[in-house]
Amino acid sequence: MPRIRLYMAPMKGITDHLFRSAFAEHFGGFDLAVAPFIASKQGRRIKRKYVKDVLPENNTRMPVVPQILSKTAVDFIILANYLYDLGYDTVNWNLGCPSPMVANKQRGSGMLPYTDRIQIFLDRVIAEIRGSLSIKVRLGWKENADIFRLLPVIDPYPLSEIIIHPRTGLQGYEGSVDLDAFEDCLAVIRHPVIYNGDIRTIGDFRRLSRRFIRVHAWMIGRGCLADPFLPGCITTGADDIPNKINRMKQFHAALFEAYSRVLDGPSHVLNKMKGLWRYFSLPFEDFKKTMKKITKTQRPDQYLALTNLFFETEAQWRRPKADIPG
Ligand SMILES: Cc1cc2nc3c(=O)[nH]c(=O)nc-3n(C[C@H](O)[C@H](O)[C@H](O)COP(=O)(O)O)c2cc1C
Repeated sequence: MPRIRLYMAPMKGITDHLFRSAFAEHFGGFDLAVAPFIASKQGRRIKRKYVKDVLPENNTRMPVVPQILSKTAVDFIILANYLYDLGYDTVNWNLGCPSPMVANKQRGSGMLPYTDRIQIFLDRVIAEIRGSLSIKVRLGWKENADIFRLLPVIDPYPLSEIIIHPRTGLQGYEGSVDLDAFEDCLAVIRHPVIYNGDIRTIGDFRRLSRRFIRVHAWMIGRGCLADPFLPGCITTGADDIPNKINRMKQFHAALFEAYSRVLDGPSHVLNKMKGLWRYFSLPFEDFKKTMKKITKTQRPDQYLALTNLFFETEAQWRRPKADIPG
């Protein structure tokens, strides 16, 4: 049996370097993380601060592949080469972002209908970058036809990996993943293919890995927020994890401390943590009342008292799979 390779999906606003480091320390299970996208900029000069999330010194706990969002080859090349010079050998191109703000400007999944633009982009980029390129795609913007037009064009390029999230951009994170279309993609790609989408339980992983034996690695996003023990369970095969709630508590405390160190003032820290609870709440039963109270807290001491009380007395691990918000 080949070794199972798991990648943490990029989730902008959530899986930043502090989150990735804390996750690696408290749960593990991932081989690497693709970092949330960095948008390319016009002009030559990239400042270190702009790529802070992927600076090697901020990523000592989990290997990372930086991701770039761009539709302009020259801007992509400048940023990618900056990242290769930091020591990365691979950079990922985001052709999957469904957000209207991105896609309406023909970036992310909004670029997928434009096969010829992608070809022109890759001709130039592949010739001028100093490292290897992987691509993260969806099936299309509005329809799957995009990917089947695109694959014969991009497959001949020397790509390191193609990551496929088998939904269209218009679907966002809703509706079902199209596994038949994914299978058809797999049949025509000669590069290593990474499957990404709706892996929430060990059962999901087993079903998918039995069906798609050619998949090189598996990428998990929201599933690892809803159950941070999932990646470790998949790779070790063990699913009877002791002390889950206490380990969540420690992870939460580590994140709170990490954000308190870098964010500018307690209200920013609280906003950040409150945003994360949308996902942290998923492993737990009956969370609505606590969530309301957490949202209302105004001061760090109130927030910590409430969340500690939750972890110590109220929290109950949820058994069936949760609905994962987008
Ligand atoms: C809040 C959020 C932010 C995301 N940000 C990115 C991103 O920066 N780059 C990217 O390629 N995909 C991004 N995605 C998509 C995820 O990487 C992944 O493809 C998607 O969530 C499906 O996988 P999952 O079902 O395992 O979550 C984001 C998804 C969410 C929910």
